[in-house]
Amino acid sequence: MAITVTPLTTHIGGRMTGIDVRRPLTPEEVKAVDAGMDEYAVLVLPGQDITDEQQVAFTRNFGPLQNGANATLKRPELRLDPAFADVSNIGKDGQKLARDDRRRMASLGNRLWHSDASFRVIPARYSILSGRIVVSEGGNTEFADMRAAYDALDARTKAEVEGLITEHSQIFSREQLGFTEYLSDERAMMKPVRHRLVRTHPTSGRKSMFLSAHIGGIVGWPRPEAMSFIRDLIEHATQPQFVYSHKWTQHDLVLWDNRTTMHRVRRYDDLTLVRDLRRTTTKSDGPTAEQEAA
Ligand code: OGA
Ligand code: MN
Repeated sequence: MAITVTPLTTHIGGRMTGIDVRRPLTPEEVKAVDAGMDEYAVLVLPGQDITDEQQVAFTRNFGPLQNGANATLKRPELRLDPAFADVSNIGKDGQKLARDDRRRMASLGNRLWHSDASFRVIPARYSILSGRIVVSEGGNTEFADMRAAYDALDARTKAEVEGLITEHSQIFSREQLGFTEYLSDERAMMKPVRHRLVRTHPTSGRKSMFLSAHIGGIVGWPRPEAMSFIRDLIEHATQPQFVYSHKWTQHDLVLWDNRTTMHRVRRYDDLTLVRDLRRTTTKSDGPTAEQEAA
């Protein structure tokens, strides 16, 4: 099958056909996906009716897996294998999560613009999200191009962001939504990590801004000054010309490069409808910055 990619917007997103994710990929197919990701940062592969095992096997082509499971849940509580981030609104029993369920509170963080696992020392490379059950109203996933956003900064701002180091933690993203209750050991697991604000993509050489709702400070800056600057940058970076909004069709497989994009989910009626999306994730090459001494 010939592989084709059709651009979805001016800057970001491509629709890729000609790959069957249920089968092992040839080295040429892996190269084509990587090349598509380097160019478009987000790829939509429609019509991929896959099992969890097929999704994991496909993901392994693109680097070591990043564990996706909510670290605060114990193994028997997980609906999916711990390799997966469970991006659904249902529990292990298949029932919708109650309005005040802690898991639901935590997943509401996905409504803020973020880059997956930016709260880890080695953050994510690709996220691979499979639409098993999708909703027809709301629930779009939006992606913003952090390369185009960087390119569009004025020279003064480019110079200002160049050497900056930010601090990321899930505590900071949840705090924005007023979710501040933690179990005894949770806070310790969420110690902030440091990342460069400007990253250079290893293959394309393009610079991008590493922004995320998980950011809670800039090293050496007063916190309010840091947070207002980060807010301005996120506002700049998520203007409509940098964004692709994905409306889900069942069996879409959507891949994005967390090094060069941010994403968020839009509201949907999660107390009435079921939405079952499953994410696998690969790790990027290494830390982007030195960590604070322990
Ligand atoms: C994710 C995520 C958004 C969505 O899978 O990392 O943020 O559309 N999902 O549910
Ligand atoms: Mn996410």
